[in-house]
Amino acid sequence: MEQDQAADRVAALVELLEQANLDYHQKDAPNMSDADYDRAKRALSTLEEAFPELAHPDSPSNQVGAAPSEAFGKITHAQRMMSLANAFADSEIDEFVSRVRSFLGLKTQDELDFTAEPKIDGLSLSLRYESGKLVQAATRGDGTVGENVTENAKTISDIPQRLTGNPPEILEVRGEVYMSHKDFAALNASDGARVFANPRNAAAGSLRQLDPEITRSRPLRFFAYAWGEISEAFAETQFDAIAKLKAYGFQTNPLTKLCHNAAEMIAQWQAIEEKRSSLGYDIDGVVYKVNDLSLQSRLGFRSTTPRWAIAHKFPAETAWTRLRDIEIQVGRTGALSPVARLDPVTVGGVTVSNATLHNEDYIAGINSSGDRIRDTDIRIGDWVKVYRAGDVIPKISDVDEEERSGDETVYRFPETCPECGSDAIREPGDAVRRCTGGMICPAQAIEKMKHFVSRGAFDIEGLGAKQVEAFYHDETLPIREPADIFTLQARDEAALGKLKNRDGWGETSATNLFDAIEAKRSIPLAKLIYALGIRHVGEGASSDLARHFTSWDNLAATLDAAIPAAERHVEADEAVLHERQNAAEQGRRARISATRDAVLSRAPALSQESKSAFEELMSIDGIGAVVAQSLCATFAQEKERKSIDTLVTQLRVEDAEIANTAGSKVAGKTIVFTGTLEKMTRAEAKARAEAMGAKVSGSVSAKTDILVAGPGAGSKATKAAELGVEVIDEDTWLTLIG
Ligand code: IVH
Repeated sequence: MEQDQAADRVAALVELLEQANLDYHQKDAPNMSDADYDRAKRALSTLEEAFPELAHPDSPSNQVGAAPSEAFGKITHAQRMMSLANAFADSEIDEFVSRVRSFLGLKTQDELDFTAEPKIDGLSLSLRYESGKLVQAATRGDGTVGENVTENAKTISDIPQRLTGNPPEILEVRGEVYMSHKDFAALNASDGARVFANPRNAAAGSLRQLDPEITRSRPLRFFAYAWGEISEAFAETQFDAIAKLKAYGFQTNPLTKLCHNAAEMIAQWQAIEEKRSSLGYDIDGVVYKVNDLSLQSRLGFRSTTPRWAIAHKFPAETAWTRLRDIEIQVGRTGALSPVARLDPVTVGGVTVSNATLHNEDYIAGINSSGDRIRDTDIRIGDWVKVYRAGDVIPKISDVDEEERSGDETVYRFPETCPECGSDAIREPGDAVRRCTGGMICPAQAIEKMKHFVSRGAFDIEGLGAKQVEAFYHDETLPIREPADIFTLQARDEAALGKLKNRDGWGETSATNLFDAIEAKRSIPLAKLIYALGIRHVGEGASSDLARHFTSWDNLAATLDAAIPAAERHVEADEAVLHERQNAAEQGRRARISATRDAVLSRAPALSQESKSAFEELMSIDGIGAVVAQSLCATFAQEKERKSIDTLVTQLRVEDAEIANTAGSKVAGKTIVFTGTLEKMTRAEAKARAEAMGAKVSGSVSAKTDILVAGPGAGSKATKAAELGVEVIDEDTWLTLIG
């Protein structure tokens, strides 16, 4: 073959393989069989060997034909990688400071310092050092398990392979990998084929390369700002810890400042915002952290975010464009969500052509209380203002009425589901119109399945949104409900049209999928609860429920028992809503508690069992009436319930582990606090008890193990005495938990 011919052939193969890689890894939609992929790759390698001058360092022949996440290997973080709660308004910063002060029970004169530093818009990385040597680097992943990118991290010059100074024996340093504006522009200019949307995508794409040499060729940078596991404390304050990280050889952000109150924090936020455009890298806000590390540890964590830190985001970026159409998407809970189709427009460096319009009231220009939020409704053909804040889905924030020509069309929100034709109704007090089709609505069923396999839920490798959609419509091997996933392999064995013979599948990818499914047959209780996709039951509520009930059987039994009481409470809520509306119309005061009591005490009387099951649910810290009612409503629906039961028979549900219980005398016990606590606030007492594996409840019942009673304890102490529950004072409690 002549060189010219070879060059054309190499170019064609590179294009083919790059497209296949893209479809497989990024779009979750394989378009080529494994065999064809391997053939093309071998042909490319042969040509590159014969004509070395044609070989490109980024060539797909250097890449492994498996999903990067599989190829990288997984690392379970020794300590979870948390995210941060967000704040936008200054008032939220005052609230944050007050919240921290009140949790810690500080007095007005007690000092409380915070650090303020830029929030880098990159991707977080955890670096593990043992005896000062870099031994492991892992991406955040889902916070619990990340990808092993050790070899790639070693190519980043800001990341020391050996630490200087006197670091702890074990030190996990956490920080942000990012790319500067200049390097990002140069990278996009140097390779027309691969244009990244923004520096963050470029940094992520560059770090997650299968070939570390490609990562080496990309100008990645790293700022250290936090730590995970440490064998010994290396500082007493956040500020000193950052100084230590610098001494160990890391880059730390020079704009980090110590602040003494909310006003100083906000001033530093303003100072950083003024410098934002000249920094040379993307930041999307300022992070505040409690400076004293012993206070940080007293404050601890909520399910995914620390109580001692918050991200104060910068205002969103905006642009004007034309609204071409409004389409309705049906979500997993049946919500009809209007989506704006826009003339593409660049907002903060990213092209936006879709944006959310929230709900029908938002389009009409009113809020949930019926007040106007805008002078006019949003019409098809309007000039609209699009804004996006970081990762958040773009939104439409405004309409330019002066640009109207009269050709715009007023939008009528559908009253039937566009996917299944069922009625779409709005319940009293709900801003959202919902499809009543349940699992017969294909859109709801597919969205539920997508949620089921998503990160944080079952997270099944090779079964992403695209595959879920394809399997849903599949005639021979359908997956229409979660349980079907776990019978797929058995059905495949019995089927004629086997998966491995399908377009886009092969022996390897089919086996990989079956293995990945098998690997998730055993699942922690909290993940199962979250995966069910029950309205209002997010990751936080799921772990609260798992911690409280510890096993699936316990949870299911309580929910079943609670159903009649929960239904009665829903009726009472509706009656109260009615009473409110009537009273408002007639200009009189609503008789809320009388209305509520009337419904709750109506015949037939609720059984004691149902009442206490519902009370137990409501007493769980983090679970309110809304969550409890939603759980019971799901369990009460026959079809839904059957689908859940069938799923559970396919699984091995792992009982919830009780955290940090080694040596804990209160692990698994149910504790109630009452009266005034003098050594710490109620919130801190609760958080500490839970960290020791105890369950904290708001009311005394036969299930209560210990009542911790401070001065002024009233009816709870009396009830505990009646039930023979152990009653102790705060000091005894503190001794008990060590
Ligand atoms: S501290 C336990 N500090 O923001 C808290 N995070 O939205 C650990 N980030 O996942 C995070 N700059 O990737 C912290 N100066 C900074 C940061 C920062 C950027 C990222 C980080 C985190 C995300 C949370």
